[in-house]
Amino acid sequence: MSGEATRDELGHVQRVFDRLAAGYDRQIGWSERFLMGNARRWAVEQARGVVVEIGVGSGLNLPLYGAGVTRVIGVDLSEPMLALARSRVAAVPVELRHGDVQQLDLPESSAETVVSTYTFCTIPDPAAAARAAWRVLRPGGIFVAVEHGPARSRAVAAVMRWVEPLTVRMAADYLTREPVAYFTDAGFAIDYADRTGRGGVVFRVLGRKPG
Ligand SMILES: C[S@@+](CC[C@H](N)C(=O)[O-])C[C@H]1O[C@@H](n2cnc3c(N)ncnc32)[C@H](O)[C@@H]1O
Repeated sequence: MSGEATRDELGHVQRVFDRLAAGYDRQIGWSERFLMGNARRWAVEQARGVVVEIGVGSGLNLPLYGAGVTRVIGVDLSEPMLALARSRVAAVPVELRHGDVQQLDLPESSAETVVSTYTFCTIPDPAAAARAAWRVLRPGGIFVAVEHGPARSRAVAAVMRWVEPLTVRMAADYLTREPVAYFTDAGFAIDYADRTGRGGVVFRVLGRKPG
């Protein structure tokens, strides 16, 4: 993807989430209740040490971090989403930053865990975000993701592909992106991957930076 195309799409993502922020918790809560299940808890349970959460959004994961996690750095490009995240109460120290997760402004090899929940579907260049996660992780560090993707049923997946141009325009949401290839292309070894949620639309992936 060209730099200009990514910048245009990044502006679109930011405008969408600035606009959707006020209703975000209600909307994702509905999706998790009836479609995706509580996979974010699984993602947070894998985290340890210094955690970088990419696309932290309204901070729904922040109250779930506990034992084994020393600090969470959450990055997002939408200020209204970050404002909601700032209002969460967490049991661990949290730092929230405005920024682009495709080029994380964090030192190399500075984190034990990168967490992404329902973020790869919106990032303009997810391959760049996976490479950025690789750079900030220490050797042996883990990249854990819970993302939605195409349903197992080919008919349902075809319908999802058909409506996708609309969801991208209205909600910056690619319905049928599958996360695993972004991990392996960036160099991660896959320790675990499965599908959950209604129709298998939720992908849970645990990648490790070898070393
Ligand atoms: C669907 S929301 C998910 C929020 C949160 N992770 C959750 O589980 O509820 C996607 C978030 O990713 C953020 N985002 C998308 N692309 C981004 C980028 N390139 N850099 C930073 N944040 C980004 C959006 O602003 C939005 O807050």
